[in-house]
Amino acid sequence: MAATFRDSLARPIPWLDAFDIDSDVLDVEHKWLIEALNHACLETAHCPSRGRKVVAELDIPGLIAAHFANEERLFDQLDYAYNAQHRQEHEHIRRMAAPLLSSGTDDSVFAQGLLQARTGLVEHLIRHDLSFKSHLLYQYGK
Ligand SMILES: [Fe+2]
Ligand SMILES: [Fe+2]
Repeated sequence: MAATFRDSLARPIPWLDAFDIDSDVLDVEHKWLIEALNHACLETAHCPSRGRKVVAELDIPGLIAAHFANEERLFDQLDYAYNAQHRQEHEHIRRMAAPLLSSGTDDSVFAQGLLQARTGLVEHLIRHDLSFKSHLLYQYGK
């Protein structure tokens, strides 16, 4: 694994208050997902097989899918105008995360996929979940 790539894996993405969406369940899930992905990336930087073990034991693709399902339930309840587009973005990340549980990929493909999933999830949070926050605040009359 190239040194710069290993360095990216080993550098965690910090949680920022600016990522807050609802000061409740969604934030707890976002924090936990970023923490889990940081942990898996760090382990992978040291030893890819340990990273694979973390992904499998925490079931990171399953955690991501469960979080998206919770968000999508809220979209339906709140009549969110960008429901369909946001769901498509979830599907994109789900497809990125699913192969992480496959044992058939070599270590560098696994490591690259893991890094992409972490970056993709944080980008999603910034680009899409934060725009949902405006809708949430409006719905709650804030
Ligand atoms: Fe989210
Ligand atoms: Fe989302």
